[in-house]
Amino acid sequence: MAESETSGAAGAAPGSAANMIEVRGLRKSFGGREVLKGIDLCMKAGTTNVILGGSGSGKTVLMKHLIGLLQPDAGEVLIEGESIGRLSGRELARVRHKFGMVFQAAALFDSMTVFDNVAFPLREHTKKKESEIARIVHEKLDIVGLRDIDERFPAELSGGMRKRVGLARAIALEPKIVLYDEPTTGLDPITTDYVDEMILAAKKQLGVTSVVISHDIGSAMNIADHIAFLFEGQICEQGGPTDLRNSTHPAVSRFMATWLGKR
Ligand SMILES: Nc1ncnc2c1ncn2[C@@H]1O[C@H](COP(=O)(O)OP(=O)(O)OP(=O)(O)O)[C@@H](O)[C@H]1O
Ligand SMILES: [Mg+2]
Repeated sequence: MAESETSGAAGAAPGSAANMIEVRGLRKSFGGREVLKGIDLCMKAGTTNVILGGSGSGKTVLMKHLIGLLQPDAGEVLIEGESIGRLSGRELARVRHKFGMVFQAAALFDSMTVFDNVAFPLREHTKKKESEIARIVHEKLDIVGLRDIDERFPAELSGGMRKRVGLARAIALEPKIVLYDEPTTGLDPITTDYVDEMILAAKKQLGVTSVVISHDIGSAMNIADHIAFLFEGQICEQGGPTDLRNSTHPAVSRFMATWLGKR
């Protein structure tokens, strides 16, 4: 990828209307221990943004702030320019409708078929007819590369397939933003590639802004327009894949070295 392309994706200016998500000066402590020590981050609409970092570095805590599940001690989160810190419950629910979430363990409803899992948000939040719901369910399953598994139950699927059903459900209502917590952790390399492809397909076909929390650097290099590396409560490096590869920050180069060693 051309250098200008990667650096172009490396965050619009703060305050820019092109930002789907903006984090400003975010700090968060638990029991006197500061986990996030001033995070500033911009994610442009329609881009795939990976937040990388070691275990316990605060990735999930940061993600929870993006949908208002946690409140910052200082700083703020803006979604499409709107600060979500002081919103009422109803206003926050409106903002959350902009998000789809793919949880770490896929979190499908075990007693429901694949079809019903993907149809669930449509039945819950819209008044669409069953014929229209079926059309949307199949369209979304198609995006994640799954066909003819409507009547199967989650227990009958592989881990990778479950993740893909999880994504189909997350995009059923066509959210502007999709959050993924560790989408490839615990998957074999081939399945990891499938999941990466599905994240790219969601971006290409639906134009979603993706936020991917990960410690899988290989996957990050494949899918990211922009990577932010979280270390000791701060973003110690950010930019396109090339910028991360060339980073001289010790924590980043250590991460990079383990990945290069495996290839
Ligand atoms: N609700 C909470 N109360 C107290 N401490 C918390 C809470 N949530 C997170 N922490 C602490 O914050 C730190 C960061 O946690 P977080 O879950 O964000 O890590 P992570 O980067 O997602 O790690 P992993 O890669 O293992 O998922 C950890 O030390 C964790 O114990
Ligand atoms: Mg986590």
